[in-house]
Amino acid sequence: MRGSLSITVIGSGYVGLVVAVCFAEIGHQVFCVDKDEARILALRRGISPIHEEFLPELLRKPRPNPIEFTTDLHSATLRAEAVFIAVGTPRNCTGGADLSFVDAVAGEIARSIDSYKVVVEKRTVPVCTSDWIRQVLESKGVAGNLFDVASNPEFLREGSAVVDFLHADRVLIGAEASRAAEILRQIYIPLTTGSYYRRPDAVPGPRSEASPPALLHTSARAAEIIKQASNAFLATKISFINAIAHLCDATGVDVEQVACGIGADHRIGRDFLHAGIGYGGPCFAKDIAAFRSVAEQLGVDFGLLREVEEINAAQKARFLHKVRSALGTLPGRHIGVLGLAYKAGTDDIRESPAVALIRQLQDEGCAVAAHDPAAMERSKEVLPPGPRMSYAGDPYAAAHDADALLVLSDWPEFAELELPRLYGTLRRPIVIDGRNLFDPAVMAEHGFTYLSVGRPTAAPREALAGLSRP
Ligand code: UGA
Repeated sequence: MRGSLSITVIGSGYVGLVVAVCFAEIGHQVFCVDKDEARILALRRGISPIHEEFLPELLRKPRPNPIEFTTDLHSATLRAEAVFIAVGTPRNCTGGADLSFVDAVAGEIARSIDSYKVVVEKRTVPVCTSDWIRQVLESKGVAGNLFDVASNPEFLREGSAVVDFLHADRVLIGAEASRAAEILRQIYIPLTTGSYYRRPDAVPGPRSEASPPALLHTSARAAEIIKQASNAFLATKISFINAIAHLCDATGVDVEQVACGIGADHRIGRDFLHAGIGYGGPCFAKDIAAFRSVAEQLGVDFGLLREVEEINAAQKARFLHKVRSALGTLPGRHIGVLGLAYKAGTDDIRESPAVALIRQLQDEGCAVAAHDPAAMERSKEVLPPGPRMSYAGDPYAAAHDADALLVLSDWPEFAELELPRLYGTLRRPIVIDGRNLFDPAVMAEHGFTYLSVGRPTAAPREALAGLSRP
C-alpha cells in the first residue's frame, strides 16, 4: 500500500477547494490550481474564500506536505499522478451543461502530460463527458498509453462539504482502465479502510473505523449518470413533499405529520422531505436542466424532471401568494426577512429562493429589511442597499416595525429567537415561515398570526376569526 500520492486539483471553486483541502487532510501532496491570482494569494495566506465549516481550520493546519496553491497549471500537472478537473460547468442557453471551461483545461493538461496520469472529472457533468475529454486529449496529440480518464463525482452539500467528503456515504470510482481505478482506490484508502477515523485530529462525523464509506467501482459513464441522477432524485423528493404540502394547505392537514409518516418507511426515509419555498442553490436547478437536456439529446423524454421543475417554480409563486393574502395588499408594506442564502450554513445566494422573492416583493412596492448570519455581503451585490432594501445586524432589527416577518432560510438560530421580544418588535405580529421552523401552537400562544408551508395557519383566537385560508 502506498502512502502519499501527488494530486493536482484544477479549479479552487466550491468543489475544487474542498476536495483539495480534504485530499491534503488524508495525507496527499496536493497542488491546487486556479487562474484567479487574488484567490490563490488569499489561499496561500490561509484565507478561505467561502463560508464552510472546518475549511478555515483545515486550510491553516500545519502538515508535512502543505498544499501548494498556484496559478501554474503546467508545472502542477507535470508533478501529479492524478489530475482532478474541478472547473465550473455552467448552464448554456439551451439548459445543457456548458463544458467550455472543461474543454480549455483539458487542452492545457494535454500540453503537460509527459508520464502516465489519470485525468479525473470531479464536477457534475453529462454522461459521456469522460469519453469526450479523452478525445480532446488525443486530438491534442497525447499518446493513449500516457493517460486514462475517470469520473469520480462528489456528493458534497454546501455547509457540510468537509464532513460530507471525509465521512462520505460512498466513494464512487468510475473508470474502465484498471490502472486508473487503482490510483483512485489508493487515494481514498485512508477513508475506505477507516484508518483516517483512528487519527486523534480527524474531523468528527458519522463514519468510524468500523463503518467506513463504501467503495463503488463502476464504468465512467455510470458514475456520470449516478451523480446527475442522485441530484435529480433528491430534487424530486423535495418537489414531491412540496406538492403534498399544497394538498395539506387545501385540506388543513399538517405536512410535517405526513412527512414523518411517509419517512418512517425505511425505503423512503425522512431526509429531503422538508416542505418549504422550493429548492435553490447552484446545483439542483442547473443539474436537473442539464440532465433533462442530455436525456433529450439521447432521445429520452424525461418528463418527470419537467414536472419537478414546474412544482418547484409553483411552490415559490404560492408562497408569494400567501404573503399577499396575509397582508391584504403589498404596495407600501415594510417586510422583515430572515435568510438570504439558499439554505442554512452557507453564504451562497446563487438561485436563492429568498433573493428571488425579495425582488418580487420590491417589484410589488414593498420595502425589505433583511438579515442573514452569513450571506449579507454577497447579497449586497445583487440587492444593493437603497430605499427598498436594507440590511439588519440581527433578526430583531430586521423585524423592527415590519408589517410581517418572512423566514426564508433554515438557519437554526432563527428557530431560537426570543418570541416575546420579536412580538414587541414587529408593527404587526405576522410571521410567514417558508421553512416551517416554528411550532404553530407556540407561535399562536405568543400572539402571532403564523403562516407556514403545508400547515394550518395558527393565530390567537380573535385574529384567526378575521383570516381567510391563504
Ligand atoms: C446538493 C446535493 O445535496 C449534494 O449531494 C450535491 O453534491 C450537491 O448538490 C452538488 O451537486 O454539488 P446543495 O445544493 O449544497 O447539495 O444543498 P442541499 O442541502 O441539497 O439543498 C438544496 C436545496 O434544497 C436548498 O435550497 C434546500 O433548502 C432545499 N431543500 C433541501 C428543501 O427545500 N427541502 C429538503 O428537504 C432538503
